[in-house]
Amino acid sequence: MQTNKTNEKFGYFDDANYEYVITTPYTPTPWINYLGNDGFYGLISNTAGGYCFDRDPKFRRLTRYRYNSVPLDNGGRYFYIRDENDFWSATGRPVNTELDEYSCRHGMGYSRFNASKNGIATQVTSFIPLDTKAEVHSLQVTNNNDTSKTVDVFSFIEWCLWNAEDDGANFQRNLSTGEVEVAGSTIYHKTEYRERRNHYAFYSVNRELDGYDTNRESFLGQYRGFDRPQVVENGKSTNSFARGWSPIASQHLKLKLAPGETQSLEFVLGYIEVETDEKWESKNVINKTPANEMAARFDTHDKVKAELAKLNAYWHNLLNKFSVNTPDDKFNRAINIWNQYQNMVTFNLSRSASFYESGIGRGMGFRDSNQDTIGFAHMVPDKVKERILDLSATQKPDGSAYHQYQPLTKKGNANIGGNFNDDPMWMVLSTTNYIKETGDFSILDEMVIYDDQEVATHDHFDHLVRAFNHVVNNLGPHGLPLIGRADWNDCLNLNCFSENPNESYQTTQRGASDVAESVMIAGQFVLYGQEFVDLCKQLGKDELAASCLAHVDTMRSTIEQHAWDGQWYLRAYDSRGEKVGSHENEEGKIFIESQGFCAMAGVGIDDGKVKQALDSVEKHLSTDYGIMLNQPAFSSYNKYLGEITSYPPGYKENAGIFCHNNPWITISEAMIGRGEKAYEYYSKITPAYLQEVQSLHKTEPYVYSQMVAGNDSANPGEAKNSWLTGTAAWNYYAATQYILGIRPVYQGLEIDPCILPSWDKVSIKREFRGAQYDIELRNPNGLSKGTIQLNIDGQAVKGSVIDASTYSGKHTIIATLQ
Ligand code: BGC
Ligand code: NOJ
Repeated sequence: MQTNKTNEKFGYFDDANYEYVITTPYTPTPWINYLGNDGFYGLISNTAGGYCFDRDPKFRRLTRYRYNSVPLDNGGRYFYIRDENDFWSATGRPVNTELDEYSCRHGMGYSRFNASKNGIATQVTSFIPLDTKAEVHSLQVTNNNDTSKTVDVFSFIEWCLWNAEDDGANFQRNLSTGEVEVAGSTIYHKTEYRERRNHYAFYSVNRELDGYDTNRESFLGQYRGFDRPQVVENGKSTNSFARGWSPIASQHLKLKLAPGETQSLEFVLGYIEVETDEKWESKNVINKTPANEMAARFDTHDKVKAELAKLNAYWHNLLNKFSVNTPDDKFNRAINIWNQYQNMVTFNLSRSASFYESGIGRGMGFRDSNQDTIGFAHMVPDKVKERILDLSATQKPDGSAYHQYQPLTKKGNANIGGNFNDDPMWMVLSTTNYIKETGDFSILDEMVIYDDQEVATHDHFDHLVRAFNHVVNNLGPHGLPLIGRADWNDCLNLNCFSENPNESYQTTQRGASDVAESVMIAGQFVLYGQEFVDLCKQLGKDELAASCLAHVDTMRSTIEQHAWDGQWYLRAYDSRGEKVGSHENEEGKIFIESQGFCAMAGVGIDDGKVKQALDSVEKHLSTDYGIMLNQPAFSSYNKYLGEITSYPPGYKENAGIFCHNNPWITISEAMIGRGEKAYEYYSKITPAYLQEVQSLHKTEPYVYSQMVAGNDSANPGEAKNSWLTGTAAWNYYAATQYILGIRPVYQGLEIDPCILPSWDKVSIKREFRGAQYDIELRNPNGLSKGTIQLNIDGQAVKGSVIDASTYSGKHTIIATLQ
């Protein structure tokens, strides 16, 4: 792997270290990273903006962050460095003093900031150690002058009063509730601990303080921003003690540095839960023992370094389960590092907290969380099993599902409810993908409650049966699946008819629900229905397999009969029985979702419908930056179609490039053997390929964004909503299972690539069910797709599947494409 610095304005990839290096604090949008792996998380921008929380970003937020703030990205873990009369930020902002040197390295679970000014160099390394509910900020200050220096360091964080929504809204109460304690070098945040909370937070540093502040206004001074705090300007803390208003934690440390000397400070921003009868040390004095124990784990630089090394090892281990070396560096970089990393972030966060998702709105989505698992089943199979079973437990007895659940309670979210009719079948995808990866059929035997139960009476397999039947039991006038509130496209609201801007498109239903039908769900049902049939056969449930297959076959012919528009698949029938996504429509003539699902399901493949639909996608929807969702864009609001028509043309679901669905087309192209097309669609939305257009693209060049503006927009190619998107899992799945064609099947690992003809050799390392395969894919004849000849450890083997029951340990495989 190489480091490539050409043409890059804001930063570059350092592949050898698994890092992206940002070289300016002023990126087009804040470019963030995620810290944390197991319930405690932080979002951290390239200038240390962001916040952290325990499990639920709405209810357990430790630090305050201002969405939509002016200037951008306000609130974070700040270190002010003061040298005589000059001061600056060790993380590039919020102080706008020009630095002699600045960089932010976002790595796997940590971010590192280097700054230098007046011969004083600082390095801040921020991470959440494994199994720890705390952010550690390790600050090193070096005096590169030839004279001694006294440097003042002021730390700063602002506490969020736990419930992030209330914190940003309920000022009549919360300006009076803030409480802190200070003991030694630690500032404890204990708002609402006096009443119903059993948790507090703290900010410690491993050195005696020269002062502190816990009250925001005392630290900043009246009407000042984070860029020029009064205390930093004066060079002296006020030892303020917060009672109400806005509690903060700021420590003042005076460092005397000889020429060439480096000193380290270790800060810990921790979260503590205490049993109710152990909350207090004495009246109104919190029990600090667990906090002090936690801080002590990181009170020397060596201890912190050792924890960081453990975190690095954890990530290397995860990422190395699957790695690839193609002739294309960008492809390698995406697959080996950033795509897998983003997949893990979507596992942890679903769609809850990013710089676009405020962490107060959405819980874990049923459809999103099921789909996300296809991006990381090879990395954390046990966690995937647990996730699938959690999702299964929010299913309703009729096979439908709660659309979301809250991570703290794992209970279905009643405010949103269900009736999104694509939801159930995604669990067939997640479950079969998990079993094919692991060979672990026992997931099907796990007893799982239905949402209305206390005690489970049925196993997970029964949940899948009901998911399947939910589609069968909810068919509309043409025999296509009823759409309910919406299918995958949350904005195609065919039963809503909303004229009131204050109501939700997705949860309002006033039209009849037994008319509007979805061709996307029809294709999804054929695809995952067939998966379900295959699963039944694996289990020897032949009768069930046969009866399910009959439903799947019927759906195939129903689509061909009622949902083929001549050159592509229709999208839906609306509540009045009118076509959506037909050449007969004036706008929204063609949609991507039904092309993707019907093509992946192979509906009409024998008489060329799949190929024709894909050609239509290319002709009508493809752009330089990916495939648009629909064309022509809707130019005005239409209550019979809903939110999709609320967006200005070219954005979001109204003809934006909604990246999540692009891989459906990539996969379909790979299935019919068009390797160049598959690669083209794959690479157009993959950020590693967008280095040259970073100013236009705007969002982080190392992760996918949900949406890139389409051709009808003001700025085609401009992205929004980075990080938490199903694009990550799907594009990874498309690239690994369909372009590289390394595809888990029940029997083992199938090799069925569809690559660029110019790739003459590809090496792949893959851990699979306890074995390690070193695969060399050879393409001597410059093909995209063909027959695979397998040679395992020097022996020719029939077929294209490495049989998992035969192999354990290490094996060398040569797969020749012919
Ligand atoms: C967005 C969709 C999203 C939905 C979730 C809509 O405003 O456009 O992308 O799925 O909200 O509720
Ligand atoms: C984003 C949502 O998270 C996802 O569930 C939905 O499928 C897409 N938007 C499309 O509307």
